[in-house]
Amino acid sequence: MAKGKNTTIFFCQSCGYESSKWMGQCPGCRQWNTFVEETAVTGGRMAGVYDKNRKSAGRERPAPAALSEISLEEEDRMTTRMQELDRVLGGGLVRGSLTLVGGDPGIGKSTLLLQVCRNLAFDGREVLYVSGEESLKQIKIHANRVGEFNGNLKLLCENGLGLIEETIRHSQPDVVVIDSIQTMFHEDVSSAPGSVSQVREATGVLLQLAKGLNIAVFIVGHVTKEGTVAGPRVLEHMVDTVLYFEGDRHASYRILRGVKNRFGSTNEIGVFEMESSGLKEVLNPSEFMLSGKPEEASGSVVVCSMEGTRPMLVEIQALVSHSSFGIPRRQTIGTDFNRVNLLIAVLEKRLGLSLGNCDAYVNIAGGIRIMEPAIDLGIALAVVSSFKNKVIDSRLIAMGEVGLSGEVRGISMIQARVQEAKKLGFSTCIIPSVCAESVKEISGIKVIGVKTVAEAVAVLS
Ligand code: TYD
Ligand code: MG
Repeated sequence: MAKGKNTTIFFCQSCGYESSKWMGQCPGCRQWNTFVEETAVTGGRMAGVYDKNRKSAGRERPAPAALSEISLEEEDRMTTRMQELDRVLGGGLVRGSLTLVGGDPGIGKSTLLLQVCRNLAFDGREVLYVSGEESLKQIKIHANRVGEFNGNLKLLCENGLGLIEETIRHSQPDVVVIDSIQTMFHEDVSSAPGSVSQVREATGVLLQLAKGLNIAVFIVGHVTKEGTVAGPRVLEHMVDTVLYFEGDRHASYRILRGVKNRFGSTNEIGVFEMESSGLKEVLNPSEFMLSGKPEEASGSVVVCSMEGTRPMLVEIQALVSHSSFGIPRRQTIGTDFNRVNLLIAVLEKRLGLSLGNCDAYVNIAGGIRIMEPAIDLGIALAVVSSFKNKVIDSRLIAMGEVGLSGEVRGISMIQARVQEAKKLGFSTCIIPSVCAESVKEISGIKVIGVKTVAEAVAVLS
């Protein structure tokens, strides 16, 4: 195939699947009507993807290096001066890494990155912030809300990738932010900015810059209506770290979640609060999540969920009321709907509660999402409490996974969870009996091991 020749390829705009002909349904992600014709350039940098016969194009033969001889310096991790972000990144920002920050429009991605840039610039790093969305004046207005900046932070309003590349090669900064990848335009690719081939080509160029010049690069990616970054699989493969910034638009806190990380764990989350002067770190999320918990209300119980290595206490609320229609209504906010239905069935069968003609609503307070099975026992107790209209002691916390025969099964990291409960002043802790042995050293909190949900309910009365 001749170099530089344009070929037409159809891309699925949802998952990046490529095909030489148009298709109604994507075989990759089963979405309908997502194929769009794009021109792929076979001579481009990412051309190896399309042109399998391409040779090494006159490059020098590389010398393989021995792993044991590669030295690491302290400098290879930079702190962003934001503990929450550093933890999600696995202990700081790695030089030469490519990080994708995804999230809904308006969630605070630009704000977060401006703050990171400010901190890095104050530490004496050269930072380049490239915006394809806002003008210099608009960024200034945005930045003014966040605080003072020093001269190490340079701004560039540009969306032509060739020019951006030249600027980066010329000024050789330590950190580059690209806001956002969907507005970037690679001159070699004729399809519109934001399309799969544009996003892929642009990310390829940035990847080469990051690795070649040892620059830490952040890419901002907007999430599409379906909840994925445009061309997500393509992008997620290419970058080192994928972080999603999420949160309820109506609540002030935001959660930064690691989805992929080549340099650390992906279970970590960072919690931030959006204030009028930018994002503030929430170092103790349990306190934050429990603020506003009603004291004497039935159907409310506190559980402990692990978010990575950090325990987090949250309140579960249930409302069970008599159903006025034939089919009872079940609704959940913040947790798995099917799991709640299953727990309600377990309560009906194993505890003999007649929930069949009751509507049931379960809510994780604070708008956070928790899918961990360790909150099962809490959900079950909240439902029982609301059904019997009996208040659960507000100093009590419950955790454990519930099985189909009503048994309470063991959960991980029980010590950290009990410690967190103790730290926040809880007096009683209901845990699976198999875990009781490992927390018997912890004093100052009463620990009750239970084998079944029925036992746990008996503890309450
Ligand atoms: P922004 O960072 O522009 O979002 P994104 O880049 O993800 O699209 O955040 C915009 C929102 O954040 C906007 O609704 C206003 C709010 N905000 C604050 O509440 N306080 C602030 O200091 C700033 C800068 C923004
Ligand atoms: Mg923005």
